[in-house]
Amino acid sequence: MTAEFTTTILQWFTTNRRELPWRETRDPYAIWLSEIILQQTRIQQGIAYWERFMHRWPTATDLAAATEDEVLREWQGLGYYSRARNLHKAAQQIVELGHFPSTIDSIRQLKGVGDYTAAAIASIAFDLPTAVVDGNVYRVLSRYYGIDIPINTTEGKKTFTALAQELLPPTQASAFNQAMMDFGAIQCTPQSPLCDACPLIETCDAYHTKRIHQLPVKLHKLRIRERHFSYYFIRCNEHGTTLTAIRRRPSGDIWQGLWEPLLIEHSPLDIGQWTVPDNLRDSRFKIHSVKKDVKHILTHQVIYADFYLVETNLRPDLPSTFQWIAESELNQYALPRLVEILINSLP
Ligand code: ADE
Repeated sequence: MTAEFTTTILQWFTTNRRELPWRETRDPYAIWLSEIILQQTRIQQGIAYWERFMHRWPTATDLAAATEDEVLREWQGLGYYSRARNLHKAAQQIVELGHFPSTIDSIRQLKGVGDYTAAAIASIAFDLPTAVVDGNVYRVLSRYYGIDIPINTTEGKKTFTALAQELLPPTQASAFNQAMMDFGAIQCTPQSPLCDACPLIETCDAYHTKRIHQLPVKLHKLRIRERHFSYYFIRCNEHGTTLTAIRRRPSGDIWQGLWEPLLIEHSPLDIGQWTVPDNLRDSRFKIHSVKKDVKHILTHQVIYADFYLVETNLRPDLPSTFQWIAESELNQYALPRLVEILINSLP
């Protein structure tokens, strides 16, 4: 039985569908190209790019024969250039295959094609009954059915994908999927949905519970910060005693108040570029690499650490915040776990 939701959306689409040039064709190449471009830009600008690409490279064979540079130049202005590289590689995959792949799994094998794009191409070009799940679909379904499961969680993805699939009429996959896209873009928009003129107003859960602006729910995932540390453990032999230098970590960062050896933090952008710190650049300081790329995971940060041992008879110049202590007394100081790992890996 077709859900009332589905019937209404399809009905809405017959009178509100947008005229888009790739809707005039069933050519999977043209449809694929439109989907890749539309991941990067809005419809109006997307049309212009799509027309230029189609004019210059009307088939996958033409696109495959272009140089990567030519494709990148045509893509210029859209940003995220790996999409353009994948586009070019996928054209070559299609040529190798001898035809445009026509099953959901084989479409999904194309470079740069994820679940959403595969479902869009499969349904629009080949009438395969696979529901698309994009931002529009999350918004429309979460509002209409009043579902507050966060969309950026495994449970959310599963729930909305299953619901969209259940609502999809198997013989009208293309129309249903594009109806959902247009309905989300025109009627059920993020900020100011046109509820007063909506054919689903009577049965829309979010409308009746006044949750239009609360749905869909998205969890704010904290960004995990990546940091790169180089620790220099100084072992200074002075009249038979082995000294080492440590300092207390300042406030405003992790491990506040704990002790650590000389630390150089590098920007992730400088990977492979860093050199010995100035105050250790003297042949009397023998620097040995002890361990590289030790991955240390904290709640909101992941640290990649390199450990060095500096052997010398001479105290290097260090900031006044450092204290010289006997290496044997290190166990009297509170140390971050990562520094303990460093000490345990010393020869
Ligand atoms: N956005 C992405 N693909 C689309 C399509 N086929 N129709 C409308 N909007 C879209």
